[in-house]
Amino acid sequence: MSNKVHIFDTTLRDGEQVPGCQLNTIEKIEVARQLEKLGVDVIEAGFPVSSPGDFNSVVEISKAVENPTICALTRAVKNDIEVAADALKYAKKGRIHTGIGTSPYHIKYKLNSNEDEIIERAIDAVKYARRFVEDVEFYAEDAGRSDNEYLARVVEAVIKAGATVINIPDTTGYCLPSEYGAKIAYLMNNVPNVDKAILSTHCHNDLGMATANTLSGVINGARQVEVTINGLGERAGNTSLEEVVMAMKSHHDLNYETGIDSKQIMKTSKLVSTLMRMPVQANKAIVGRNAFAHSSGIHQDGVLKNRENYEIIDPAEVGVKESSIVLTARSGRAALKHRLSVLGYNFDGEDLNDIYQRFLDLADRKKDVADEDLEALAGTERVKE
Ligand code: KIV
Ligand code: ZN
Repeated sequence: MSNKVHIFDTTLRDGEQVPGCQLNTIEKIEVARQLEKLGVDVIEAGFPVSSPGDFNSVVEISKAVENPTICALTRAVKNDIEVAADALKYAKKGRIHTGIGTSPYHIKYKLNSNEDEIIERAIDAVKYARRFVEDVEFYAEDAGRSDNEYLARVVEAVIKAGATVINIPDTTGYCLPSEYGAKIAYLMNNVPNVDKAILSTHCHNDLGMATANTLSGVINGARQVEVTINGLGERAGNTSLEEVVMAMKSHHDLNYETGIDSKQIMKTSKLVSTLMRMPVQANKAIVGRNAFAHSSGIHQDGVLKNRENYEIIDPAEVGVKESSIVLTARSGRAALKHRLSVLGYNFDGEDLNDIYQRFLDLADRKKDVADEDLEALAGTERVKE
């Protein structure tokens, strides 16, 4: 099996569904161009039947982007598929992403249907989409809560009907990593024609396990991951691109490859956060303000001795210039001495003890001590060298 894991970005579809995050077409094109620079394989550009604006965005993104496949979402409904195919007419590589619910909840309460009828509708949708494009992805909505034996029947049928990628969404973010991984393993082992398609993960973060579930899916055979920048998405969000990519990159032993240029990660994160008016939480893995900031004395001392003591990723790898040492009342002498030396002051011995005591008094009053504060403290004690 190939080690290449395809990165399917759904920031502009699942991410953009978040209230307050809507983008206009020009903004979507800017994000799509940046996603292309980042190196994603697929951009899910929208759900064309949902509104004229979404339709238009899929058309314009298809024109603006060269390399990634452009994907458009549909329900398993003929009109949705026709509209999606029309929106994709300028795509160099276009994919229709169609599907239907397969969990007992969706079959009974949402679709008022039964298992056999759902399989027929899934087959019809895939066959109809194949009339317009060669690349058809099928999603089994709420696969996370679907029975594995039934899911395997659905997957086998839609692959026979011509689906090239099969999306196994944990729509409600319900699964545990072991459970989600076992689901993918079950499909890999029990669907006779599974090698004719790629299995894809699509995890939501309701229990904070989207990244873990996605990786578990990959370890068990999925070769496409559906992700968003900054983990944006419905409710608690989708799997975050930066977390999955950097987890795979950091664990060289797993030997997975992606086409992502990780140095573009921070730039992409900032662009999406700004345009979608959605600040990134400070402690967010990889792209949060504190992801590469060291604040306790023990850690600061360790990082100054060798950054690998407390850093598993070189910040430059994700486009962050350098890690930072934040001076607070929890900082030690080593961090203070280091920062002072960067500012051009050398303190040792008793002088260092003395300025450290005055620094602690100040740090107890202020939350962070800035360079200007240090300049003021040092200036009263020493002449700049
Ligand atoms: O979460 C989900 O099930 C989805 C599908 C529409 C792919 O977003
Ligand atoms: Zn989703």
